[in-house]
Amino acid sequence: MSEQPLKRDPIQGDIVHEYDGIEEADNALPVWWLATFFITVVFGLAYWRVSPSSRQEYVTEMASRLSEGGEVTEEGLVMLSEDPATVELGQQTFHTNCVVCHGEHAEGNIGPNLTDDHWIHGGAATHIYTTVNSGVATAGMPQWGPVLGDRTVRALVAYVLTIRDTNVAGRPPQGELYVPAATPAAGDAPPAATDAPAPTAAEAPTTAAAEAPTAVVAAAPTAATVTPSP
Ligand code: HEC
Repeated sequence: MSEQPLKRDPIQGDIVHEYDGIEEADNALPVWWLATFFITVVFGLAYWRVSPSSRQEYVTEMASRLSEGGEVTEEGLVMLSEDPATVELGQQTFHTNCVVCHGEHAEGNIGPNLTDDHWIHGGAATHIYTTVNSGVATAGMPQWGPVLGDRTVRALVAYVLTIRDTNVAGRPPQGELYVPAATPAAGDAPPAATDAPAPTAAEAPTTAAAEAPTAVVAAAPTAATVTPSP
């Protein structure tokens, strides 16, 4: 890789490029520098492999907290759906209470197919939570919150999220298409309120220009949350 030097500088060594008087030397990196660099890389990889704070442990930790109650959020429910113990509880409960109407494989029977991407009452995790928790009295879907309790309802939602859009052959899709937004990875910043269109200078009346942006941000809806049943 070494190029033919243009000249030799007493301090910098071989000069390989020169442009407008700015000179670029090409010297071998000091051994101590390279050693530190490679040790850092090896340490980083090793630490990454053995580090206890893997995504899986983070999910398990969050899951144990979430199933103790707290606010029902889209992100929290999606995280529960990544926790094997919670999903298993949901699956067992589903087999005991739900297969009569939704079918052995959730393919639908009296109730709709829960494995397609169409939802009568919304396919977001918080929508599914509301449907399971509060039921649909007029359509024969029982209200499960008071019967099973909040923790089990969350586990059921976690399970339904794992079968959502797996398309088991059964009852044809009903309702509206729901495509989940990309799940943010752990540690990613939560979706910012910047989703709301920023007011352009043209829209804001010149006199009230200073107040306009604040008003819009305040009016932007916060992340969809549902109040859990007691
Ligand atoms: C007695 C029958 C019955 C049982 C038992 C039942 N469901 Fe339902 N479920 C229904 C019906 C009927 C609907 C459709 C409601 C409608 O058309 O508005 C429904 C709808 C749903 C939906 C919404 C589907 C959509 O397209 O939006 C979900 C989610 C759901 N049920 C989950 C469950 C879970 C979880 C259980 C078990 C804890 C369960 N259901 C038990 C009858 C039942």
